[in-house]
Amino acid sequence: MNKVVKVYFSPSETTKKVVGLIADNINEENEICDLLYFDGEKEFSSDDIVVVGMPIFAGRLPETAAKRLSKLHGNNTKAIAVANYGNAQIKDALLELVDILKENSFDVIAAATTISHHSIFDGVAVGRPDESDIEKINEFSQKVIERIENGGSLESEIPGNKPYVDLKQLPFIVSCDESKCVFCLECVSVCPEGAIPDDDPADVDIDLCSRCTSCINICPEDARGFTGDAFEATKPKFESANAERKEPEFYF
Ligand SMILES: Cc1cc2nc3c(=O)[nH]c(=O)nc-3n(C[C@H](O)[C@H](O)[C@H](O)COP(=O)(O)O)c2cc1C
Repeated sequence: MNKVVKVYFSPSETTKKVVGLIADNINEENEICDLLYFDGEKEFSSDDIVVVGMPIFAGRLPETAAKRLSKLHGNNTKAIAVANYGNAQIKDALLELVDILKENSFDVIAAATTISHHSIFDGVAVGRPDESDIEKINEFSQKVIERIENGGSLESEIPGNKPYVDLKQLPFIVSCDESKCVFCLECVSVCPEGAIPDDDPADVDIDLCSRCTSCINICPEDARGFTGDAFEATKPKFESANAERKEPEFYF
């Protein structure tokens, strides 16, 4: 039996869920490589199967996630590439993911874009992945299993352009309600950019912060979130512009 490894960067944990669904279909006994925490070199064998999931940030992979993914190396290792997004834009993110995997000697056998709850604008894609998404992801997984058994690499053209769209930092600020903060320092441990000082978790270094939402997601006191006039002004416009449901896409 092949070893299946779930590889993901998942600040608000929906990408982790999608990767888990696919990996569990292939083999329920799987391992984890969590790129929110792991920032080292790792090599996979030709018998391994990796399911790699990344969220989409402004039409690209999160910069930190892409850097960490680039330190993982395959040996003609079968890979399933998933770009998970909040029902807005995909742009070049799936292409970037497939390119990194191919450059690092993974044999990409299938790819997908999936939709999950928007981690910044919480009125978009509420409750997703939902039952319909899960059914489609399970059907995709069955086709992936057939491909693992019968052989074959990704043939479909992946949407996107080169050069990829420029990396863009969102202008919103993550703030911390100091009256709620209990100094548990979970946010300090999870922040992949090391942007939160342990002597004052409210004092985020906004130049380092990628707005990934991991600190908001992990805070047990619900003390952290996006605030400010720019955020409040954008939220209703963004939510109405992205209200129409998009569907997952699968590539073989
Ligand atoms: C900084 C940032 C940028 C984002 N940019 C996009 C985007 O370009 N398109 C989109 O549809 N969703 C975007 N999203 C939403 C996430 O892709 C989506 O919520 C995804 O499910 C998050 O995955 P996670 O739960 O694993 O963190 C963005 C989220 C963040 C935090």
